[in-house]
Formats: sequence, structure tokens, C-alpha cells
Amino acid sequence: MSYPSAATRSPAHQSLLGRARQIQQQEMQRLLERTRGSAQLFTRASRILPLGVVSSFQKGDPYPLYLKRGQGSHVWDQDGHEYLDFHGGFGAMVTGHAHPRIVAAIAEAAGRGTHFAVTTEEAVAWGEEICRRFGLEMLRFANSGTEATMDAIRVARAATGRDVICKIEGSYHGHHDAVMFSIVPNADLMGGRDRPASAPVSRGMTRDAARNIVVTPFNDAQVLEEIFRERGREIACLIMEPVMMNIGIVLPQPSFLRRARELCNQHGVILIYDEVKTGFTIAAGGATERFGVKADLVCLAKALAAGLPAAAFGGRADLMKLIGQGVSQMGTYNGNPLVAHVGLVMLREILTPDGYAHLARLGTRLVTGCQRAIDANQLPAHTVDLGAKGCVSYRQTPMQNYRDFLDTMPELFAASYPWLLNRGIFMTPGDEEQWTLSVQHSDADIDRYIEVFSGFCSAVAG
Ligand SMILES: Cc1ncc(COP(=O)(O)O)c(C=O)c1O
Repeated sequence: MSYPSAATRSPAHQSLLGRARQIQQQEMQRLLERTRGSAQLFTRASRILPLGVVSSFQKGDPYPLYLKRGQGSHVWDQDGHEYLDFHGGFGAMVTGHAHPRIVAAIAEAAGRGTHFAVTTEEAVAWGEEICRRFGLEMLRFANSGTEATMDAIRVARAATGRDVICKIEGSYHGHHDAVMFSIVPNADLMGGRDRPASAPVSRGMTRDAARNIVVTPFNDAQVLEEIFRERGREIACLIMEPVMMNIGIVLPQPSFLRRARELCNQHGVILIYDEVKTGFTIAAGGATERFGVKADLVCLAKALAAGLPAAAFGGRADLMKLIGQGVSQMGTYNGNPLVAHVGLVMLREILTPDGYAHLARLGTRLVTGCQRAIDANQLPAHTVDLGAKGCVSYRQTPMQNYRDFLDTMPELFAASYPWLLNRGIFMTPGDEEQWTLSVQHSDADIDRYIEVFSGFCSAVAG
């Protein structure tokens, strides 16, 4: 995935950009000197792993940092440097690392046998708890967010007898062909604001996939209405993150979710929420709980099982019952007993109301501190606070959709990233991500982030 071209900069920003570039160069140089172990492992890994990593999202320039271990809110890299972890395994680690109850739960389950490919009572209990939180009537398990969205789309296509998928420009729903379009489209490929083009992300995708996708902007009910009016009879589903979380964080306007729901009802389109990132992080029942507008099907993964590979999708019983009436959904490891036990323990004992209260308090503390530093230095940036999730985006005002993301200043993120790393803060490598807090983070961890970030703000503001 390549970056969109930077939007036109005002002259007032030029000196800020100059300082950002200088900081980025200095800090990267320092980072490379400190991380020789990662450089060596990169050379070795690259012999057998394309890009030297196990997933392309982990790649780094000139190489990624490799981690050795994690404990609580801390991680240690290949060179032994300790960091406070705000990366959170791309949003999976709301429990924090090696949580004592999770370590015990893994041992309990492992001692009873790790896999049968037969449904266990615990998988049923885990499913019941997920259904309760998200208001789902039925669900099925899978192993990754990609599988969950792939399966939900199949159910929607079967239910409607239609092929076309409507997706939001700038959203990622996993790496299967059907949805690998317009994730971070380059400015020259993305088409007009009110009729975004369907820009394929990968070579090797089928041409058919391109015929079956239509792309619409987030927070724009009018365009959605027009698209549904024109092509509603071909559209099986609207798949969307109710809060966009692959370009920083874009909050939904309340009227947008409500209107999308109404339009789906009017046109017989299945509404699928991709809550792979929002589920279990921004509330016990994710965005469904937080914003109060229900989808027909919901996809879950990431924070579902304390960092073990797990996913689920579910919703209306009439749709889910199509599984068994000609719709295939399977997987050797679905609802595996190890994962089910850990997932159930996590939901019952760790991600409790107290756990969410802790996450909300820490999130607000972090955002308040970061915003104070932004304001004090008059930087063109804003913060977003959503429980365990939050971010700094380098744009003066909140984003409404992907086109606003093109108007952020990636140079500021690029400078902040090595600055934070060199001072012991581990963050995601791209500005399309956000931080994930865990129940094991403390006030002192948050205050350290604020201190380091404030230092960055002062330095870049000059
Ligand atoms: C919103 C969203 N949906 C789906 C996925 C795919 O999940 P997975 O990487 O588990 O396949 C991701 C992964 O980042 C995601 O952010």
C-alpha cells in the first residue's frame, strides 16, 4: 500500500514541516544505531519471509523492530530495550501482556487438551456471552477478522441473492479479494469525492471482484442514498466499521449510522458492522453498544481472546440459520477449546465493568494530556478519545471521511514515531493506526506517554 500524495500545504506549515523532517532524520539515525539486533534479524528473516515479516502490515522502513517478550504494559525488543506498549498488538491486547489470569487460563485449557474439532460447552458459553454483549441472536466462530468478514458477506449474498458489496472508502476489512478495494487509495486513483472509484489494493485479485464492489464515503448519507437508488437491487450488503479505525479514528455522525440503517432497510441491503477493532475495546458491546444503532450482522476478532487467534460473526437468527440451509461456514480451529476457555475467562473476569471504567479513565487522561501539549504548541493536530482506543491525528479538526485523511500531515507522524521509540514508547508504525490501552496500564504509564509526547510537540513547534 503506498501513501496518498500530500495535500497542498499552507506556507505557515512549511517551517513546521522542515523541523519535522529534521527530527525524523535525527531520530531515525539514533533508532538505527540502537537496534542492531533488529537489523540482523531482519537480514535473517528476509531469507525466508517476504519483507522479513509474518504479515505485510508489520513491515518497516528500512526494517521493523522485532520484539522478544511482553509483560503487563511493557514490551522488550530484540536488542533488549524496554518500552511501554501503546501498540497493543494492533488492538488485540486489551488485557495487556502475560496477564496472570490469562497465563493460568492457557495452562488450565492446555492441560485438558488443546484441540478436538468438536464443539465444547465452553465454546457455547463463550458464544452466549458474546451474543449478550452485542445483542446477537446467533453466531459462528472463525479464526481471523478476514474470515469473519468473508463469511458474513457470504451469508448476506445468500440471503439477498445479490452479488455486489458496498464498502466505505478508506476502510480495511481483511485481505480476501471481495473487500480489498480503496483502503488507502492514491489520490490519482480514487475518483470523485461523491463517487469514489473502486481501487484494487493487491495484484493477483480476480477481475470479478472489481465488478462486485461499490465504494461510498463515510459520514455521507446523501451519496449512500444515491448509490442505493441507482444500484440498490444489486447490492447484497453494506459493510462498514461503525467508527473508522484504519485512518486514525473517524467518529460517525449519529445521523449517518441511523440513515445507513434506514437505507439498508428500504433497499433490502444487509448491514454488516465490522467491529474487529471497535469490539471489546471501546465498550463491552463495542460500537453497537456505544452508538445504539444495530446492524444485521457483526464481525468480531482482535481483542476477542486476549491475543489468541479468534474471530466470530453473528446477528439476526434468520440470516445465521442460512448456515445449514445451503450456506457453508467451517474451519478446523473455529471455537477451539484453548481459545474458547481463554476468551471466556477474559470476558467474565477481566473485561468487566471495572475493567472498562479503568480503560475509560486512562484514555481520557491520555487524550487530555496530549491535547494540552498540542494546544500549548499550536500544532495542527487533534485527539480522539474512545475508551481503550484513541489517537492523535495531525490535522486541526476531526476527520469526517477518507478524503480528510489526505489532508493530515504524515511528516509529523513520521517524526513522532522514532521520537517516541527512542524514549521508550512503543507505537504502531503507521499514522493509519491508533493506540490501544490495556487493563494493565497505569496512571504512571499514561503520564510517561504524555511527557514524551509533550517533548515532541515542543521540539517540532520549535
Ligand atoms: C476493521 C478490520 N477488519 C478486519 C480486519 C482483518 O482482521 P485479521 O487481520 O484478523 O484478518 C482488520 C485487521 O486489521 C481490521 O482492522
